[in-house]
Amino acid sequence: MVKILVVNGPNLNLLGTREPEIYGSMGLDEINRQVDGLAGRLGLEPEFFQSNHEGEIIDRIQGCGSECKGILINPGAFTHYSYAIRDAIASIGLPCVEVHLSNIHAREEFRKQSVIAPVCLGQVSGFGRQSYLLGLRALADKLNSRGISDE
Ligand code: DQA
Repeated sequence: MVKILVVNGPNLNLLGTREPEIYGSMGLDEINRQVDGLAGRLGLEPEFFQSNHEGEIIDRIQGCGSECKGILINPGAFTHYSYAIRDAIASIGLPCVEVHLSNIHAREEFRKQSVIAPVCLGQVSGFGRQSYLLGLRALADKLNSRGISDE
């Protein structure tokens, strides 16, 4: 199994109760469970990490180590202004996919910009929990095409 890191940023621990009209009624544990199920079928072994703190997210990304081959990340509000998380992703050079539950391009002006997306393979936004599953498929596909296996 190929190890990947799945990162969820601030306030995503509140999914299920947080603005359900925007983010849906599914909690993060259930989303992670679905990601875990699909990951297994794709030959990936995810490690899940959620934090409300920018520095902790940076430390976790830096600590990826050689056994981790890719990152799936929903940076939450850090998407829009964290140059430090962007630099952390760029520094470790692993393929990364950015995901969002809501369509950030159809919301407030400040949400339309992602400072993270330019250092990612791509972004999936607006499909609720499916954004994670679609993003995971894209990451798996990229790892496959690069011939990355668990050896
Ligand atoms: C979000 C979008 C962000 O703008 C917001 O700050 C979040 C969630 C999403 O998944 O739609 O916390 O990343």
